[in-house]
Order: sequence, then structure tokens, then C-alpha cells
Amino acid sequence: MLRRHGAKIAVFLLCLAPVLWLARRAWSGNLTPNPIEYITHYTGDWAIRMLVATLAITPLRKVLHLPGLIRFRRMIGLFAFFYASLHFATWFGLDKFFDLREILRDFAKRRFILAGLATFVAMLPLALTSTKGWIRRLGGRRWQMLHRLIYFSGIAAVVHYFWLVKSDLRLPALYGSLVTILLAYRAGSWWVAHRPSRGESPQRI
Ligand code: HEM
Repeated sequence: MLRRHGAKIAVFLLCLAPVLWLARRAWSGNLTPNPIEYITHYTGDWAIRMLVATLAITPLRKVLHLPGLIRFRRMIGLFAFFYASLHFATWFGLDKFFDLREILRDFAKRRFILAGLATFVAMLPLALTSTKGWIRRLGGRRWQMLHRLIYFSGIAAVVHYFWLVKSDLRLPALYGSLVTILLAYRAGSWWVAHRPSRGESPQRI
């Protein structure tokens, strides 16, 4: 089922649904009394959800023996970047009104903004080099190395969330736990693949 063309279209529509829902609410003037804050939170939520979903693809396809899941990783990763871009643009354009002095002041004053910027900047090369052409240009190994930046993005997004909340830490803690489990899974797989086999001296690794 996962290999069908329709499955890709279904995942695409699912990933697009949140922004369509937001557009519908905006169209009907139903974005709460503080629309900018609402859009910032809404797009931030979807950016981190998509980022965690992207990180989950590899562990899920191995644990559930569903190799076909890999077909969706690039799309979901690009949607993570799409929602992060909307989030950033809302803050930059609607909240700060492109006022560079105010923006720089925010970077200096609020550490969670810096963590958000670090997350966004790390996601940028991943989105730009996500095509087959870039895999060919960079070579598989270098491309994979570069795409390990997603681990940094996952951690930085959680730090961003932890630093911005004032009291209720439940959601950042949930995302933090998910990212920790997903990265621990990868670290475990790496260790299993690289540990010395019996009789092999550790110096040779
Ligand atoms: C330069 C980049 C970024 C800036 C300036 C930024 C700014 C903000 C701001 C101003 C808020 C609202 C804070 C508040 O109301 O107290 C926020 C919330 C949030 N941001 Fe970002 N952000 C950035 C990047 C990101 C990225 C890349 C992600 C995820 C991949 C992300 C995820 C979130 C989340 C999950 C929230 C909380 C949403 C909620 O409370 O429901 N942000 N961000």
C-alpha cells in the first residue's frame, strides 16, 4: 500500500491540511483576537511536529519492517521546512514588521529566538539539497553527513521550545522525550554496526 502513488498524494494532502485549515480560518476572520500570536504558535507547532515526524521515519521503517516509509521522508522534511518558513516569516514580517533593529534587539535579548534561528538555519541546507541532483553533486557520503544536521535541528527546536515557555513544560518535555528516543535509537544502531566483532582488537576500529 505504501508503494502506491496514491499513498504519496495522501501524505502530501495530510501535510498540507494544517495550512489549508489556517487559511480557511483566516478567510473567515476567525484567528482569535491576536492573529499574529495565533499564527506564530500554530506554525511553530506544525514545524516541530513535521520535524519530529521526519526524524521518526528511519526508526519506524526499521522497527515496523516498512521499508516503503522512506518514500515520504523527503516530503515530510520539506513540509517541516515549509511550516518553519511560515513561522519565521510571521515573526519577521507580521510581528517585527521587517524592522532590522528590533529584530537584532530580539536576538540579543531573548535566547529562545536565537535557538529558533539556529534551528531554522540548520534546516535551510537540508531543504536546499534535498533533490536527487544535489545527492549526485555532493556524493552520497557527503550528502548523508550534511543531512545529519537534522539531528541538530531536532535538538535546537526542543531547546527553542523549552526556553520560550514560561510555566507549563509538558509539551516541550514531550517533544524532548521523542527527540531523545529517536536519536538514542540511531546512536544504538550505529554502535551495533560499529562495535568490534569477537576476536577483533578494539584498536583496529
Ligand atoms: C528564526 C527562527 C525562529 C523565530 C524567530 C521563532 C520565534 C518564535 C516565537 C516569537 C514564538 C512565540 C513565543 C511566545 O509566544 O512566547 C515561537 C514559538 C514556537 N516556535 Fe519558533 N521561531 C523560530 C524558529 C522555529 C523553528 C525552526 C521551529 C521548529 C522547527 C520552531 C518551533 C516553535 C514552537 C514549537 C513554538 C511554540 C508554539 C506554541 O507554543 O504552541 N520555531 N517561535
